[in-house]
Amino acid sequence: MKTPTNLLFLLTLFATLLLSCAKKNASDEGQKMNVFIDDLMSEMTLEEKLGQLNLPASGDIITGAGSNNNTADKIKEGKVGGLFNIKSVEKIRAAQQIAVEQSRLKIPLIFGMDVIHGYQTLFPIPLGMSCSWDMELMEKSARIAAQEASADGICWTFSPMVDISRDPRWGRVSEGSGEDPYLGSQIAQAMVKGYQGDDLLKNNTIMACVKHFALYGAPEAGRDYNTVDMSRNRMYNEYLPPYLAAVDAGVGSVMASFNEIDGIPATGNKWLLTDLLREDWKFNGFVVTDYTGISEMTEHGMGNLQEVSALALRAGVDMDMVADGLLTTLKQSLDEGKVTQQEIDQACRRVLEAKYKLGLFEDPYRYCDENRAKTEIFTPENRQVAREIAAQTFVLLKNEDQLLPLQDKQKIALIGPLADNRENMPGTWSVAGDFAKSVSLLDGLKNALGTEANILYAMGTNIVADSLLDSRISIFGKPTKWDKRSQKEMIAEAVAVARKSDVVIAAVGEAAEMSGEASSRSDINLPENQKELLEALLATGKPVVMVLFTGRPLTISWEKANVPAILNVWFAGTEAGNSIADVLLGKVNPSGKLSATFPQNVGQIPIFYNHKNTGRPLAEGKWFSKFRSNYLDVPNEPLFPFGFGLSYTTFDYKNLKLSESTLTKDGKLTVSVELTNSGNYDGAEVVQLYLRDMVGTVTRPVKELKGFQKVFLKKGETRTIEFTLTEKDLRFYNSELKFVSEPGDFKVFVGTNSANVLEAPFTLN
Ligand code: BGC
Repeated sequence: MKTPTNLLFLLTLFATLLLSCAKKNASDEGQKMNVFIDDLMSEMTLEEKLGQLNLPASGDIITGAGSNNNTADKIKEGKVGGLFNIKSVEKIRAAQQIAVEQSRLKIPLIFGMDVIHGYQTLFPIPLGMSCSWDMELMEKSARIAAQEASADGICWTFSPMVDISRDPRWGRVSEGSGEDPYLGSQIAQAMVKGYQGDDLLKNNTIMACVKHFALYGAPEAGRDYNTVDMSRNRMYNEYLPPYLAAVDAGVGSVMASFNEIDGIPATGNKWLLTDLLREDWKFNGFVVTDYTGISEMTEHGMGNLQEVSALALRAGVDMDMVADGLLTTLKQSLDEGKVTQQEIDQACRRVLEAKYKLGLFEDPYRYCDENRAKTEIFTPENRQVAREIAAQTFVLLKNEDQLLPLQDKQKIALIGPLADNRENMPGTWSVAGDFAKSVSLLDGLKNALGTEANILYAMGTNIVADSLLDSRISIFGKPTKWDKRSQKEMIAEAVAVARKSDVVIAAVGEAAEMSGEASSRSDINLPENQKELLEALLATGKPVVMVLFTGRPLTISWEKANVPAILNVWFAGTEAGNSIADVLLGKVNPSGKLSATFPQNVGQIPIFYNHKNTGRPLAEGKWFSKFRSNYLDVPNEPLFPFGFGLSYTTFDYKNLKLSESTLTKDGKLTVSVELTNSGNYDGAEVVQLYLRDMVGTVTRPVKELKGFQKVFLKKGETRTIEFTLTEKDLRFYNSELKFVSEPGDFKVFVGTNSANVLEAPFTLN
């Protein structure tokens, strides 16, 4: 008995020593950094300090209305703190050289970029990535993105975007992880870990920037940049958790959002950027605005450039993206007593700290290794990972009569405006990508089946029929390949091709730029001309598989009712075509699950699974009852619920069991369920656990995701899946915004999606 106790004691002592050494090292490091920055700042003029707060856009990509003049001169004069969206190690080295050789204090620049879902090796759009429900893969994708970006000179990315959204009209749903705060939080952490690794000083890790802080995903009417207005209760419980998760994971920077919060734009909102972010959440990195976020406050009605710049600084902004407000107005504001020297110093210090943490003072060219740029970007290995990851993000929405996977030697008619279209595969925010190098579905099928294979092709129709709309969705040079032939002629050709085949694959959906920034839609149906194509293909009597490309949930009620198989592939990145072929041909069994609800029609929006019950809920399974909460003309149910996704195999859930019927404050509750792969293929299933707090001092959602596990089962295999719940899992923000649990009755649900679950009751004591 004695030895193990001693051993335990020694181990504990050793662990404590290690921990205190680590803490001491961290505080020594912190000390060193403070001394270094104190020294540097004692040399700096006011103008040089303001220069550090300035982040002009430069280089290849400019996303807003800002311009880029005389940047080199400004760098020399110490008026630039960093640059963003410059692409290539040569250009970055050249700009850095100006800063460290020609400016008075030789302070290095920080180089940012929108590395959103990969650098040159592009992964699926974030909404697609979130449907993998696989945190290891999420982290790996961010790791590879960081590796490639840092090999090309970038040390800071404006990602992850964690805005919860329940409104698919908003184009930027494509950039986030869907509607759920729990899933969104897990993803936020995985992405931050992936980008930043365990050591920011390494030359292959980069600083992350969680955005858009906060609530940007809830604009009125789904219109981009529109007003957001919500209760604190909803904010804390439903929208803020993923930002907090990123802060807890040690994210180095935060981007303020464009929208207002409680009537004050986020960029000038002291409650948000200081009281909540710094005081409550203990964030210790720096805050950058979004593109012209400061000057836009004038349009919001907050005053002229001088006034809004002072407001932003006082609120807690440290760096000004593009607006030139902090650089050009703060001196006057200081003279007039509208801001203090201490506020300016603090912002300057935070920017310098970020540069210090990235190791830029030690070596300003740390991320400028031309050799790495040649060997570490867009490698076959990275592309292989992208291919594997993409296949995990596809969601099989329907598969009547097991039409998929395709059978050997079937003659395939590949038809549709997205079939032979490399440009649209990567999806929105593919800043560093080379569209010509991505793999179209036609390429992918040919790669898989060989050149001898029987693949017939026709475009069938344009992505949209309206040339004005077509020009609006081609702004970033991702041509939609507008075909001048008439709709009638194109459909006739497609029908003739379909008739010669055994199976039709219809590659339809949105163009990449129909979602993303400033791409809101009020009608989220498949464009009418594409629906006409589908009708014509179905009329041939051939089996039709719809491969759906989209950056948002779409209202595809008609398609669900009429097309026998639907595979939703989002925008799958560089390797799109190969990954889709892998899934269509059964090399990979799909396992993606929706992270956002698909509505039946736009009138149901906002629609999400974790809604409240109301005082007049509609009985389950009913469409309409007078004086209940429902619609006259559409059921309450969504088209596809949160968490939904089929497989080529089937999974059965049985025997939901709880280890106890009562959970105590310090206790644990084990929830187990028996899962069987009852179909004909090996496959992965995302087992989902939801909770309902039956009685509360504030109303609680009808279900909340609190756990999930992605498990792989051979056909015929049964496994017991276990989850552990503790009192912490039952906490929520009450009416005083305290994070508490309340004793009483709960229900736990486990199942294959949010609407199809087994349930059991328990009590918290
Ligand atoms: C977007 C941000 C992006 C920034 C820089 C803005 O328009 O809202 O998400 O990081 O541009 O490109």
